[in-house]
Amino acid sequence: MPVISVVSLKGGVGKTSVTLGLAGAAMARGLTSLVVDLDPQGNATSILRARPSKTTVANVLEHPTRAEIEAALTPCDWEIGPGEVDVLASHPSVIRFDSWTHPGTVFKPKLAKALQQLEGYDLVLIDCPPSLGALTREALAASDLALVVTTPSYFGTQGVERAVAEVEEIRKGVNPDLKLAGIVVNRVRSVAEEHQYRVGELGSIYGKATILKPFLPERIAVTQAEGFGAPVYEVKTQGGREVAGIFDLYLSSLLRK
Ligand SMILES: Nc1ncnc2c1ncn2[C@@H]1O[C@H](COP(=O)(O)OP(=O)(O)OP(=O)(O)O)[C@@H](O)[C@H]1O
Ligand SMILES: [Mg+2]
Repeated sequence: MPVISVVSLKGGVGKTSVTLGLAGAAMARGLTSLVVDLDPQGNATSILRARPSKTTVANVLEHPTRAEIEAALTPCDWEIGPGEVDVLASHPSVIRFDSWTHPGTVFKPKLAKALQQLEGYDLVLIDCPPSLGALTREALAASDLALVVTTPSYFGTQGVERAVAEVEEIRKGVNPDLKLAGIVVNRVRSVAEEHQYRVGELGSIYGKATILKPFLPERIAVTQAEGFGAPVYEVKTQGGREVAGIFDLYLSSLLRK
């Protein structure tokens, strides 16, 4: 059951879109996946139209038991198949688990403990909040792979540096099995010189192989899918097909890692 965290320090770069793009690609292949929404904003929970559940990921972080996580799981309402997507829904109160901790405080991962007791999924995807705080550390501690998302911009490159350092920190500490799966460069406009420059810069810092190919282009289909509360492959436009095809390639490469 590979667990993949989708992370970035910067907000609005496309973490949720990438998480749901991968969940959609998995669904189209007939796989059963779980999306853990660790972001107090709850964007993934609402786009997946998760059926209301009495408990959420907040309860699981409080009591990381098998009974608690099983009780909190809820199906998404995409119902397109042939696969399935379940959701560990977010709640605004999850924010209290993101509080600052004093350096040197012993970190005892809770989400990892809960997920270890779960079985039956082909894939677990964790959508992280836009910070590298305690919630993202929970996600990384529970993951086999970390996928860093960025946009081709100056601040994006800086954010990638911090995210990669955080992955390394968790790998050296609580989760030696964690691997950097790669960097997704999102919202690329091939004609924009600045974008080409930033893509080249990321390749020269992290190695060309670390950057997932092809880049994710800027396409209105991504925003439309979000508005419909549907996977992007349900947006029957050229852009929808193009982006869905890229997520399918990303999924293949992640499942090989
Ligand atoms: N490739 C793309 N083309 C066009 N729009 C995109 C693309 N990727 C993301 N967007 C849009 O950008 C906005 C932000 O994306 P998203 O919510 O996935 O980012 P995020 O990193 O999860 O944000 P947050 O940090 O707030 O959680 C959304 O409205 C989404 O539809
Ligand atoms: Mg998000």
